[in-house]
Amino acid sequence: MSAEVLHGLSLPVKSIPPKYFYDEAGSKLFDIITGLPGYYLTRTETAILRDNSTAIARRMDARACLVEYGSGSSVKSRLMLDACRPAAYVPVDISRDHLERSAKAIFDDYPALSVYPTCADYAMPFALPPPVAALPRLAFFPGSSIGNFEPDDASTFLRGVAEVVGEGGWLVLGVDTRKDREVLDRAYTDAGGVTEQFNRNLLLNINKTVGADFDAEGFRHLAVYNEEAGRIEMYLVSKRDQRVTVAGTEVDFAEGEALHTENSYKYDPEEFVARAEDSGFDCVDVLQDDRGYFMVLLLQAQIST
Ligand code: AVI
Repeated sequence: MSAEVLHGLSLPVKSIPPKYFYDEAGSKLFDIITGLPGYYLTRTETAILRDNSTAIARRMDARACLVEYGSGSSVKSRLMLDACRPAAYVPVDISRDHLERSAKAIFDDYPALSVYPTCADYAMPFALPPPVAALPRLAFFPGSSIGNFEPDDASTFLRGVAEVVGEGGWLVLGVDTRKDREVLDRAYTDAGGVTEQFNRNLLLNINKTVGADFDAEGFRHLAVYNEEAGRIEMYLVSKRDQRVTVAGTEVDFAEGEALHTENSYKYDPEEFVARAEDSGFDCVDVLQDDRGYFMVLLLQAQIST
């Protein structure tokens, strides 16, 4: 971990990977973000899933294993469970406490369902629990977390999911779309400062996990839409000249220097479908809301073609 973080801090534009947002506090802050008025992503995706859940379930194998990339604490997981009625459910998440708590809640509400919480960084290969080995597979990756991968890494990730679900297996994938700058600005900078807290929490998590003395209050939140690249770029900007010790190494920040913390890519439907079809999937359907703010793709693995 410290080698990864120190490498990012040695780059010309310093950066720390977004996975460090999601400790216990960060996961809670993100849950709050998903309910903010400007953060349209969660509300819009939930409505698409609710409106189409029966149609989605009709295409899926009965008694499948639902593998959710993420902790599965959301209303969206329950929509999928209610509609698809899988035999087994495997939520995969890096944050152990969050995963255990949300898996327990699912277990309590769906006593007939076999739940196998799996603590792993889902961006890396991981093993499914042995009891689900023989079941047909349906992967669910909501929230446009795929947008937090660089596009080439998103393709690599999709190829990995295609291997996990196997030939003919399914992926139900949520992806945010390109849209007007004003809408995106409101989603990534809120008046109450929750997104700023979420952004700064990454530094507090680095203090804990890697051993550092970041003063989180010494940085301010910045989110900018890079229209050409189709992504929101998130930074923490140093409020003053300051020196931070990270895993025993001193790192200097100049006043106004930006530390990059996240990219959140937005895709046009045709652009993303082409990427998915290049990465081991057939696109069977693209479901959208009336404004075209978000899309849910129904993808079927076609590994051999
Ligand atoms: C988790 N991920 C999809 C969020 C996003 O919109 O890219 C993370 C986030 N960053 C700021 N607000 C929310």
